[in-house]
Amino acid sequence: FIAATVFGTMMIAGAQAADLGGQVLKIGSDTTYPPMETVDEKTGEIVGFDVDIMDAICAKINCKAEFVTTAWDGIFAALVQGEFDVVMSGVSITDERKKTMDFSDPYLVVSQAILLRVEDEGTSLDAFQNGSKTLAAQTGTTNAQLAEKLVTRDNTRLYDTFAAAILALQNADVDGVIIDGTSAHAYEQEFAGELTAAIKGLESDPLGIVFQKGSPMVDAFNEGLEQIKADGTWDALVAKYWGV
Ligand code: ARG
Repeated sequence: FIAATVFGTMMIAGAQAADLGGQVLKIGSDTTYPPMETVDEKTGEIVGFDVDIMDAICAKINCKAEFVTTAWDGIFAALVQGEFDVVMSGVSITDERKKTMDFSDPYLVVSQAILLRVEDEGTSLDAFQNGSKTLAAQTGTTNAQLAEKLVTRDNTRLYDTFAAAILALQNADVDGVIIDGTSAHAYEQEFAGELTAAIKGLESDPLGIVFQKGSPMVDAFNEGLEQIKADGTWDALVAKYWGV
């Protein structure tokens, strides 16, 4: 009888789904990062892969996501100070960031790429590493770190947003933009015939949802993420954005 009771309790505990009780979460995001998060020009709405993933997880664990646009510079400080409940912004999980914040399990793994102007399509990684070519990236990103490793700090050009880095590439102020491959793909499509992600498969980054240290929400989000992977939602969203 005791064994049966214990077993019964375990069953109930195991079946209990994570439930955030309808909580409205303020999600900080630098919404200048296609296709992860951008502001729809017509509707003014924040849209993208991150928004869809967040909504799908919230549907499983009973929360409501409210994305709020914020600058990348200071985004983590704002989270730590409690200005946001969560940050979701194509953020790479790094040991450095893990010192001050908690991450969900990876919801996507991306490899970095270099965008070039189409007329420079043949430029090799070697030409970047051993020449005087410049690489642009957004300040404070893992991409900026890799740029400095590849072409030295002197030949790295940092911008507040990737949108500004892309503009610099189009204006031939820089020779390449180093960026997560998922976004390289989006820019390549937006500027077809002008820009190309000619160098791919560089360092890979797992992306995570970011929480304050010790946040009790992390487990619930991991559970929700597992559920949307199991029921095909995650696959459908990856197909929607990258057609794979
Ligand atoms: N994955 C890179 C990083 O975490 C770049 C993310 C940039 N995200 C953005 N919304 N601008 O460092």
